[in-house]
Amino acid sequence: MRHAVFVVPFLFETSVRFLRAALRLPGVAVSLVSQDPLERFDPEIRSGLAAHWKVDNALDATQLTQAVQGLSRQIGPADRLIGVLEQLQVPLAEARENLGLPGLSSEAAECFRDKSVMKTRLREAGLPCARHCLATNTQQLQGFLEEVGFPVVVKPPAGAGAVDTFRLDSPEQVPQMLATWPPHPSRPMLIEEFIVGDEHSFDAVCIDGRCVWFSISDYTPTPLEVMSNNWIQWCVQLPRELEGRGYEPIIEAAPRALHALGMGTGFAHMEWFRRPDGSIAISEVGARPPGAQFTTLLSFAHDTDMYSAWSRLMIEDHFEPPERTHSAGAAYLRGQGQGAVKAIHGLEHAQRELGELVVDVKLPQAGQAQASGYEGEGYAILQHPHTDIVEHGLKRMIEIIRVELG
Ligand SMILES: Nc1ncnc2c1ncn2[C@@H]1O[C@H](COP(=O)(O)OP(=O)(O)O)[C@@H](O)[C@H]1O
Ligand SMILES: [Mg+2]
Repeated sequence: MRHAVFVVPFLFETSVRFLRAALRLPGVAVSLVSQDPLERFDPEIRSGLAAHWKVDNALDATQLTQAVQGLSRQIGPADRLIGVLEQLQVPLAEARENLGLPGLSSEAAECFRDKSVMKTRLREAGLPCARHCLATNTQQLQGFLEEVGFPVVVKPPAGAGAVDTFRLDSPEQVPQMLATWPPHPSRPMLIEEFIVGDEHSFDAVCIDGRCVWFSISDYTPTPLEVMSNNWIQWCVQLPRELEGRGYEPIIEAAPRALHALGMGTGFAHMEWFRRPDGSIAISEVGARPPGAQFTTLLSFAHDTDMYSAWSRLMIEDHFEPPERTHSAGAAYLRGQGQGAVKAIHGLEHAQRELGELVVDVKLPQAGQAQASGYEGEGYAILQHPHTDIVEHGLKRMIEIIRVELG
């Protein structure tokens, strides 16, 4: 029997969906390593686990190594050490190396984690991406600004969720940014040339570094625009057909980019831009399954369970490329105003007009705290064989539904 050790630091619903899928795999013993106590996990999960090991810090490679050693004594030698969280990928890789387990190397994991290293690698491989500079002092920042001009984007080199990510449009904005966030060796700042264009993802499945399957999605608008305008509700759509949509440049470049970054076996989530002239720039890549309900979207677009597909791939090295049967999309329901969720308007109207397209929904609940990210407080997922029907449905959904905060 295979023994897979799954790390879920905290009881996040996204991680738990992957864990549940691993527990459904026949002939696999799954152990859980978490920071949250086992009692927090629901009885169904607890009864499915072979064992549990609590750690104080799940991002510490030494603690993960000791956890796997302890679990191996209880259950038998571990075959895999896996987890889905972005912040876990480097410590997981380090622990696997300590233990001699297969998986993404720590060198590659670092490449995916640090956006500056990532962009340097991509450029070296001749792949298109924004010019960048990792500044540890003001001189470096000024030098880069003189070289590329405005606008630029500044962000933390290992950030996530567009947190602390800003667009600077003119020299007048620099002093204020420097006052609140001066670049320093202890706090380097990543500065990038601003790419004007629309934003997309390229979600890939790789086996031994070879891209064996992929999906593309369209973001409306870009996450940075959503973060900068608190009235905007974000939408993501997976069109059913990938031909005839100008995706050729990314279909050619993305597998080379994954190879250049040292991708092994697993899911990869790449974000990329397309400029008005059709040229592309690769933005960032994670060596992990995507967040923000994307795995659910992938499931609905291919009429399959991509959570299970990921578990099988990571534990048994097996993946059957599914066919695209539908378009799927998510409308992220995001409150307007300030404070907790007060009310949702337009539900009945949306139900009447769009109910037949909705396959999954998480409605913001009255009293729910305001979300800080661009995903908002809830979502509705739409599915239909026709791309334009989903596109129209998403547009209508965010027009009709209004989440009131206050
Ligand atoms: N060079 C860039 N040009 C234009 N927009 C950018 C650039 N870099 C980031 N952004 C915007 O900021 C968002 C967050 O940046 P990203 O690098 O994806 O970090 P995160 O890991 O926080 O998602 C992106 O989704 C995109 O909308
Ligand atoms: Mg991103």
